[in-house]
Amino acid sequence: MVVAGARPNFVKVAPILHELSRRGMPRFFVHTGQHYDVQMSAALLADLDAPEPDACLDVGSGSHAVQTARIMERFEPVLLQHRPTWVVVVGDVNSTLACALVTAKLRHELGCRIAHVEAGLRSYDWAMPEEVNRVLTDRLSDLLLTPLRDVDEIILREGLRDARTEFVGNVMIDSLLAVLPKAQRLDLPARLGVRAREYILVTLHRPSNVDDTKRLAVLLESLAQIAKGRAIVFPMHPRTKGRVVASSLGRLLQGLIVTEPVGYAEMIALLDGAAATVTDSGGVQQESTVLGVPCLTMRSETEWPITLTRGTNRLATWPPTIDSVAGDLKAVAARGRIPVGVASPDGWDGRAAARIVDALQAGPRSRAVDYAHEDSWSNLPS
Ligand code: UD1
Repeated sequence: MVVAGARPNFVKVAPILHELSRRGMPRFFVHTGQHYDVQMSAALLADLDAPEPDACLDVGSGSHAVQTARIMERFEPVLLQHRPTWVVVVGDVNSTLACALVTAKLRHELGCRIAHVEAGLRSYDWAMPEEVNRVLTDRLSDLLLTPLRDVDEIILREGLRDARTEFVGNVMIDSLLAVLPKAQRLDLPARLGVRAREYILVTLHRPSNVDDTKRLAVLLESLAQIAKGRAIVFPMHPRTKGRVVASSLGRLLQGLIVTEPVGYAEMIALLDGAAATVTDSGGVQQESTVLGVPCLTMRSETEWPITLTRGTNRLATWPPTIDSVAGDLKAVAARGRIPVGVASPDGWDGRAAARIVDALQAGPRSRAVDYAHEDSWSNLPS
């Protein structure tokens, strides 16, 4: 049973669903409905050639508590009815934690196990809802499927010894490499009236950047300044759009090319064609590393430090000011583009889904866990 709820999840589950189908393994795809706009969900799934969901929970928006609780309530009967061997959750969104938690409470009864794809990542920023989701989902999982070799150390440090850890690489890059030829044929920059390799692609949606009106005003003001010399393309997340409207900051967008959220192939086309990108997305940091596009991350930390050491990514001066954003962007853009794949970390090679399914096929038993015996928990640190 493979679970997805929000935009970045779809990019990660599509290759896994394809690989399960290719091997003729029975699979059940649950869409929680955390993201529901056509552009955030259906269009993206179509771009990824993903199968129709077998169950849609239609949870929609809400506070973290409401959204998480609603997913749990609606996921439980699906789990009880279908009794899968594995529940595969991906990433760090509310759907990830909610479904892992439901499964954890029923795994003795149903004999099913939890696999977490993209395990072991940490930003160490507890103000970030995704960090809470990551840490707790890892703690609940039986199989930790990691995108980077060096996160094993984090898993050991946190005492997650009962789970089996397998390095599988980065499944998001499977989708990226699969869509890249199609994306390059779209000729999207020209359709938006900008010249390839001359514009800046911007995405912003983190609550810490867009829910705080002062921070949002600084960011939009700095983009308005940059746009006087460089074209800026800004596909706007619904959360950001809502905040811009509510805080009457729309006037700062006048010099920018603002679009609705774009499809997956379109997003990769825009990123591949950009001179540089300014983002607070986890996905864009990874994708720009593989595509070799200079990236300025509008956060004070990242759960993907490898993108910094590979030389494509830079963390913004924090807290940002109107001038610091332009200065940081200039510094990162001066590095220039790197050919596709040259900066890619180990395992970001388009074959992660195959390794994930190999790990699932290896069986549900984790190294130390035997849920019939309470003793199995006794080796955890207090
Ligand atoms: C969620 C994830 C985040 C991920 C991001 C990618 C959590 C905690 N956050 O954040 O990790 O990076 O998705 O997009 O799970 N909305 C729509 N249409 C939609 C979806 C959302 O209009 O299809 C609006 C709603 O007003 C909603 C707001 O956007 O309240 C935010 O959506 P939500 O799912 O709460 O979080 P994201 O900010 O999208």
